[in-house]
Amino acid sequence: MRKRLRPELAISLSVLPLAMLGACASDAPSVLEPAGPAAASVERLWWLLFWISFVVFLIVLALMVRALRGRGRIEDAVDDSEVRWGEPFVALAGVVVPWIILTVAFIISLGVMKELATAEESEDLTIEVEGRMWWWEVRYPNGAVTATEIHIPVGERVRIKLTSADVIHSFWVPELQVKLDQVPGRVNELSLQANKPGRYRGQCAEYCGLQHANMIFTVIAEPRAEFDAWVANEAKPTVTAAGSALRGRDVFMDNSCVGCHAVRGTEAGAELGPDLTHLASRSTLGSAILPNTRENLARLITDPQSVKPGVTMPPTSLSSDELNDLLDFLQQLT
Ligand code: CUA
Repeated sequence: MRKRLRPELAISLSVLPLAMLGACASDAPSVLEPAGPAAASVERLWWLLFWISFVVFLIVLALMVRALRGRGRIEDAVDDSEVRWGEPFVALAGVVVPWIILTVAFIISLGVMKELATAEESEDLTIEVEGRMWWWEVRYPNGAVTATEIHIPVGERVRIKLTSADVIHSFWVPELQVKLDQVPGRVNELSLQANKPGRYRGQCAEYCGLQHANMIFTVIAEPRAEFDAWVANEAKPTVTAAGSALRGRDVFMDNSCVGCHAVRGTEAGAELGPDLTHLASRSTLGSAILPNTRENLARLITDPQSVKPGVTMPPTSLSSDELNDLLDFLQQLT
């Protein structure tokens, strides 16, 4: 009589595709949607390993079903030749075949790793990205300093020098490159290239404390002319404030803001927190967790812990006039 699949086995098999789908969030960047050459070779490797695993999975499944159906027969077998039949098969399928598959996969992976590591020395743009708890400082050769948003010219290979100011972080833009650790006292390098203009989400990929999951950044790939204009503007000191913005500048200088932040073109030159010289040109706040709006800026100033629990920025208590002036000052930092 034919034996049916055991119910627990059938249930676990039917749950598998659901479990795999659970890992997909609609707005999360995917390594399976590469937008640059480095990510494309990682994607090819991913699919190769996926199909190898899938075929092995099907074979194991078929053998398991066959074994479950034949269980009675083997137990009842008088002639033990049927049992012995398994021995060379186990050696072949359990040792030789996995060895060949793993060796081939290892050699191909080494090839991809070598391809990713041999970034040519031809990049004419080098950007320094320092990981901080919990944001990213970005420096350009012309003196521009910004935070969280990394602009690059589209279609060009850009060298990124990665450092850390405190603990180990990891720089990861799934659609463009593999992850690379940012280790205190060390400089790690990788190259970024985006094939088409767009915004690519990056994420810290090494647990680094309370706000690790909110340590986000954006790579903005844009045509060369737009990039040149942007980077030239970012290198400039700020414009002279007037009116309420001028009063706001005084609020900035008289409160704790000046102790941590720089606004080039003013006396504020501290480097503990993000450089705010062109704050209003950025689209997000708090390491890309909030849109850069007046309301969010006010929230971040008055109650930073409600936005990013664990952040070292202290709350600032201001009268509503002072806060409005300060917001006017910050919002004209374009
Ligand atoms: Cu920085 Cu996790």
